[in-house]
Amino acid sequence: MIILGIESTCDETSIGVVENGRKTLSSQTASSLSMHRKYGGVVPEVAAREQLRVIIPLLSAVQDDLEETNLKLRDIDEIAVAYGPGLVGSLLIGVETAKTLALSFNKPLIGVNHLIGHMYANWLAPKSKVKGQRSKAPTFPLVALIVSGGHTDLILMTNHDKVRWLGGTLDDAAGEVFDKVARELGLGYPGGPEIERVARSHKSKVASVKFPRPKLNDQDFDFSFSGLKTAVVNIVGSSGFIVRRSAELSYEFQEAIVDVLVAKTIKAARKFGVKSIVVGGGVAANSELRRRMMVDGEKNNIEVHFPTKDLSVDNGAMIAAAAFYQKNFVDSLKLQADPCLHF
Ligand code: KG4
Ligand code: ZN
Repeated sequence: MIILGIESTCDETSIGVVENGRKTLSSQTASSLSMHRKYGGVVPEVAAREQLRVIIPLLSAVQDDLEETNLKLRDIDEIAVAYGPGLVGSLLIGVETAKTLALSFNKPLIGVNHLIGHMYANWLAPKSKVKGQRSKAPTFPLVALIVSGGHTDLILMTNHDKVRWLGGTLDDAAGEVFDKVARELGLGYPGGPEIERVARSHKSKVASVKFPRPKLNDQDFDFSFSGLKTAVVNIVGSSGFIVRRSAELSYEFQEAIVDVLVAKTIKAARKFGVKSIVVGGGVAANSELRRRMMVDGEKNNIEVHFPTKDLSVDNGAMIAAAAFYQKNFVDSLKLQADPCLHF
């Protein structure tokens, strides 16, 4: 079963082709990130105009990839698209392209929730070190942590079609605080990779300030990061030597957010007795989050899965993988973008 997946919910435009939910045959992505840098965040109109410009050239690049394996676009069995949540102008471009492809090639259309797509990036198997084998798929039941610029959610999955939302952020998303704190510290956009880079240069691994770990010990599975962001803002406002201190503050901020994300995910995993944890979304590219989740997962005898760093961010292959396992068939004439889609 070969599925073509389209992703255009935010600033990336991406088309992937995946066989049987795991093997990537093609993955082509264009990002308008550099155009948003000077504004310190995504400008929806700029993103959508760029997506309109690049989507057909991307499709043509996918076609070239397929031809190398003697396949044509019409050999694809199903078309999938992320139809929400996201920016409405951006979503429309992916959704209308997918509808057109499904209608013109007479293929079934599958609607995918972008957030569920992030989880399925963990099924896209990189080649394992053992020749000819692929890495193992996550085992159910599992807890998924989705951490992106717009979302922070904990989800329990007992099977592909049994998805239960456990909790999420009450205010800012994890990626959003990385971006806001980076701006406060005079670092570039997107903030996550910048904070990670600067925090790494803080060699002493101790900090003279201690930021709060909001809701760390609460029994629920919700998050709240706005207090942590305010704590950084307050320190920056009261410090005259911010450039000198930015490494230490980035380090302590990253420690605080990773402490909370790891502790709450492990708590959920233990409470529901799951076999694995999967992490997805842009913040899943953070090396410290990856390291700490792996260490704590191992201590608790729980498998921990992260996508490769390039598949942690938005991509069409994860949408194709999600579609293979969760067949949400939709009417190609009727599918509508849903910017506020939840679980
Ligand atoms: O999933 P994504 O590409 O787009 C959304 O759907 O939002 O996530 C983007 C977010 C940004 O907030 C960015 O700062 C964050 O992911 N991010 C990181 C890292 N790389 C990207 N956060 C922390 N550490 C990173 N290495
Ligand atoms: Zn995303």
